[in-house]
Amino acid sequence: MTLTALVSTLAAVVDAGTQPAAAIENGLGRTPVMGWNSWNYYQCNIDENVVKKQADALVSTGMRDAGYKFVNLDDCWQTSRDSSGNIVADPERFPSGMKALGDYLHARGLKFGVYSDRGTQTCAERPGSQGYEYQDARSYASWGVDLLKYDNCHATLDQKTQYETMRDALDASGRDIILSICAWGFKSWAPKTGNMSRSTGDVMDDYTRNSQTEFTPVDEAIDKNNAFAMYAHPGFFNDPDMLQVGNYGNGDGGGLGMTDTEYQTHFSMWALMAAPLIAGNDLTSMNAATRKILLNPEVIAVDQDPLGVQGRKIRDIGDTEVWSKKLQGNGVRAVALWNRSTSAKSIRVDWRDIGLGTGSATVRDLHDRADRGTHTGGYSVSVPGHGVALLRVTGAETPDVVKITKTDTRTITDLQVRTEFLINDEWHDDHEDVGTFNDSTALNLNGNGATRDGNKWVGNLLKTASSSAGPAVVTINRTDPRFIYGARVHVTFKINGEQYTDFEELAPLSGTTNYQLNANGGTWNGSQYKGNFLRIQ
Ligand code: GLA
Repeated sequence: MTLTALVSTLAAVVDAGTQPAAAIENGLGRTPVMGWNSWNYYQCNIDENVVKKQADALVSTGMRDAGYKFVNLDDCWQTSRDSSGNIVADPERFPSGMKALGDYLHARGLKFGVYSDRGTQTCAERPGSQGYEYQDARSYASWGVDLLKYDNCHATLDQKTQYETMRDALDASGRDIILSICAWGFKSWAPKTGNMSRSTGDVMDDYTRNSQTEFTPVDEAIDKNNAFAMYAHPGFFNDPDMLQVGNYGNGDGGGLGMTDTEYQTHFSMWALMAAPLIAGNDLTSMNAATRKILLNPEVIAVDQDPLGVQGRKIRDIGDTEVWSKKLQGNGVRAVALWNRSTSAKSIRVDWRDIGLGTGSATVRDLHDRADRGTHTGGYSVSVPGHGVALLRVTGAETPDVVKITKTDTRTITDLQVRTEFLINDEWHDDHEDVGTFNDSTALNLNGNGATRDGNKWVGNLLKTASSSAGPAVVTINRTDPRFIYGARVHVTFKINGEQYTDFEELAPLSGTTNYQLNANGGTWNGSQYKGNFLRIQ
């Protein structure tokens, strides 16, 4: 039993109503979960033979050895509760029982995942876990379950409390069980509650929205998931939902299907965003293109990188986008060049945009698994419509810095810069008065030596380093050596006595981010101007 499990068991004995406030630090999910889930292809049409065949295919195709270890039964494995309240698997579809299925999977080096719901019923109206959390967690542990996907249907009680109750129940079960939160959108409490959490609605087998798309197409899921990049780290990953790669519109979950180029984009962007890679296709009948996408070891390595950074969008140039993910090592990045238009386009990444200065860097194409040489300043490549080029770039790491440059020609006074940043799940917060924006001011961002105020660190974290004449610019240098998962920069300032305010988010803090502070075009909200004044250059 882990220490947190022990503590929460004791807490439960002393007072069953006490909620341990501990973080999810259960040692699990240090890299995104990889495996297979029944929902996208089979929906409710599952039984033990289907599951065993998929498990066998994970082994025979080489997927298990590539990292896909979890076999997750989604909704509809359960039918009722017995007279003691124990959850019971469908006796017709799972006649051998759940323990036998768990044993079958473990004997093949696989892991066992099941599904339940925080409400009274699951989304497919099978019994939910509300009021049975500890009893169900004990059943799962006795079957050898390694992961619980916990859904959000038929629920009326407080969402956060119900997910925390299941977290504590799993912790008290005595078995290491990953909690996969399925609450259909990012929740601020999720990183302290589960090891992964859905950031989106259900992803359909559609690249982009069409008239029949009931839930979320792949491109919208990527956009949604990007907003929460700063929260991802070893032990917690955002989950933009399971893969549709290889379904070609044949899954019971619906959708028109995608082209192989679109499936490769889907998979590559999931890897770039350190998303769980949970296949949702029929593994017994994969074509060569599907195998190639799902089994590319260099793309999988991007997803499973031990730093656990969720890559994010760096540049948006209309239909083309540059995304970057910091990888373990000095000056290493995965870069995705995404062409959202329908025809081929050349897309360029500049090294300075991904924190690698302006010198030279080597490029490897991860889809073709081929080196592309050494390039100074950046690299351009032609990308097919709806496609992605996925690169591994190795260059020289440049110091992390945030620069705010004055581009508004009017006099800016009363400038205050506030930063919040996240280190190891804890927010740090500080602000400095810059005053009149006509000097060069350098601030050092440093989380050492602050004091704790409730749930965050406050103090003199943003220190003035030096001040010298020159172009009006505020530079925030990172001097804290720890990994800063994300940062928020807030500015307030006055022009002609009128107050303006804005903030921007960065995730993670890496490389140089240049902002322009320009108050033209803000809107007046009664007491102050609000708008996109602090623009990424
Ligand atoms: C919800 C979830 C899906 C799936 C179904 C099962 O829609 O978001 O991922 O688990 O329920 O009913």
